[in-house]
Amino acid sequence: MAEDLTIITGNKEAQYQSLIPQLSALLHGETDLIANLANVAAALKEQFNWFWVGFYLVKDNELVLGPFQGPVACTRIQKGKGVCGAAWLKAETLIVPNVDEFPGHIACASASKSEIVLPVYQGGNIIGVLDVDSEYLNHFDEVDAKYLGEIVKLIDN
Ligand code: SME
Repeated sequence: MAEDLTIITGNKEAQYQSLIPQLSALLHGETDLIANLANVAAALKEQFNWFWVGFYLVKDNELVLGPFQGPVACTRIQKGKGVCGAAWLKAETLIVPNVDEFPGHIACASASKSEIVLPVYQGGNIIGVLDVDSEYLNHFDEVDAKYLGEIVKLIDN
C-alpha cells in the first residue's frame, strides 16, 4: 500500500476505526519488528497527536526504549518500576488518569499528566509495552484500552 495515512477528525472511536485497517495493511507482510513498531508509533502520533507515544522493549530483564514519537525519553526501566514496568510485571493494561497519583511513576517529561500502557506480546511472550502519554489529565479510558489492544495484536504476527 501507499505509505501515507488517511487522517480523520471526529470522535475517538471513529478515529481508531479508521486507523486500524490502515495499520493492518501497513504491517501486513512486514515481519521486521522494529519497522512495524516504528510505523505504529508514527501512525498513532499522526492520527491522535498525543504528547508521547512509543515502545519499550524487554532486553536482559529490563525495558529499553524502542521506536517512539515525541520528546526524548528515559532509556531504561526496571521490571515493576513506573507505569511501564508495572504493566509488564502485572501483564495488564494500566490506565493512569493522573500520573502524580501513581506510586513510582517515572516522569520522563514534566508535561505528561496522564498515561496508558499496554503489554505487547509475540508468540505468547511479553516483548515490550506500548506507552502513551498525554499532557492532559484523564485523557485515556476503556475505549483507548480496547482499540490500542487491537493495535498491539497486529504486531503479534
Ligand atoms: N512514565 C513512564 C516512563 C516512560 S515515559 O513516560 C516515556 C512510566 O512511569 O513508566
